[in-house]
Amino acid sequence: MKGIILSGGSGTRLKPLTNMTSKQLLPVYNKPMVYYPLNTLLRAGIKDILIIIAPEHAGNYLNLLGSGKEFGARFTYEIQDEPKGLAEAFIIAESFLEDENVTMILGDNIFQNDFSEDIKSFKSGGRIFAKKVADPSRFGVVEFDDRMQVVSIVEKPKKPKSEYAIPGIYIFDNKVVEYAKNVIPSKRGEIEITDLHNAYLKDGELDVRMVEGEWIDAGTHDSLLDASILVREKLQGDMII
Ligand code: TTP
Repeated sequence: MKGIILSGGSGTRLKPLTNMTSKQLLPVYNKPMVYYPLNTLLRAGIKDILIIIAPEHAGNYLNLLGSGKEFGARFTYEIQDEPKGLAEAFIIAESFLEDENVTMILGDNIFQNDFSEDIKSFKSGGRIFAKKVADPSRFGVVEFDDRMQVVSIVEKPKKPKSEYAIPGIYIFDNKVVEYAKNVIPSKRGEIEITDLHNAYLKDGELDVRMVEGEWIDAGTHDSLLDASILVREKLQGDMII
């Protein structure tokens, strides 16, 4: 199992903070934001990690994270020239992945969970997660039937069919690279990760697990503040870096 941290994007909702640095390098309590998704991968035993970054901030990431040796890991870097969507990560990662499975985490997602079991027990297909939230329209949303089987997955629906959002950690087998190459950009011009989920769902190969612990997508001013408080109150003890 290899890992990807997707840490590009434009961070427009966090302007003016992101006018001079990458969103995922902003402080969350006492560490740069990207340390938290990195911690999640390292805790789960993933040591071979591709960090995908935007060109304007590449030097800062190299200065901060380096080769990975300091973390007992190996880091590879790739540039995403423009933020064309989450699913593009798997196209950029093709040669890094070779034929291995992958766990991808978003650089602005902060989790309390230890995903070791979810990752170690993964064999093939796709495994994503769901969490009940107050504002599902900000995320991909999963609709379940009364037997908790997945019925549909929709990206940022105006009228969500459930309160279950899909957090930014995804486990896929190597078929994801070919699936990603076949995704047609959405109306907002992005290669959407929900299209990958739907490709696995169509093949009966999508497994959706609940996330019990805390989860924050730190991409807005309010959630960035909430993330710092969550770390101070609850997550510091889970940090191995
Ligand atoms: P978003 O928060 O959806 O996008 P963003 O970071 O560009 O912020 P904003 O909407 O405020 O402009 O992205 C989720 C995560 O994925 C975040 O860590 C950035 C990353 N990302 C990329 O690396 N490349 C991309 O093409 C996109 C869309 C996001």
